Amino acid sequence: MPAIRPGPAVLALVFAAACAEPAPPPFDPAPYLERGLAATAASFQVMSGQLQGKLAEGGVPAAIDYCSLAAYPLTDSLSAAYGVRMRRAAVRFRNPANRADSLESLAIARFADLLAAGEAPKPEVHRLDDGSVAWYGPIVTLEPCTKCHGTVGDDLSEADYALISERYPEDLAVGFKAGDLRGIWSLRFDR
Ligand code: HEC
Repeated sequence: MPAIRPGPAVLALVFAAACAEPAPPPFDPAPYLERGLAATAASFQVMSGQLQGKLAEGGVPAAIDYCSLAAYPLTDSLSAAYGVRMRRAAVRFRNPANRADSLESLAIARFADLLAAGEAPKPEVHRLDDGSVAWYGPIVTLEPCTKCHGTVGDDLSEADYALISERYPEDLAVGFKAGDLRGIWSLRFDR
């Protein structure tokens, strides 16, 4: 009597069941929110301290190089410590390297709408298709920022603006008032 053999379809089913991965745990944004907040708060503290010191020392000409992540090797070590890539992005940018991409522009629009409605925008976390995690957080203009991002001829002197536009001929980052959204922190976690 011939032995009964399972057909290929049955074998395929058995194989698929044996290899089925357990469902991944649901995505938990909380640890990313926390790491992003810690990394950006530490960076902001160092940057605004330096900026204010340099402004007090020699005004805009002395401080002009200190609103750039490139001026702070610390951000590299923070990036390593928190396992994140950090940048700042804006639609109305000063440095075209900080031009917002499409996801960043959407976050900027959401944060600006919230601010306009009198609400405080909070950082957002999104898991992207490639498995990485994006963290976006608002950067709101403060009074001292208007020395370089405010209204030309008012908060920002013509002479200082000449210096800025010589360095950044594509500058769009003026005309901001305290309380306006200046841009965002844009972080990317690979794990
Ligand atoms: C002394 C002048 C100066 C002051 C004061 C200043 N900035 Fe800037 N800011 C700049 C310059 C110059 C750049 C371009 C940096 C670069 O090359 O990446 C810049 C860039 C930025 C960017 C990145 C996006 C872009 O437009 O390129 C953000 C965000 C920003 N500034 C926010 C602030 C905030 C918030 C404050 C106040 C806490 C502030 N800045 C104060 C000069 C200044």
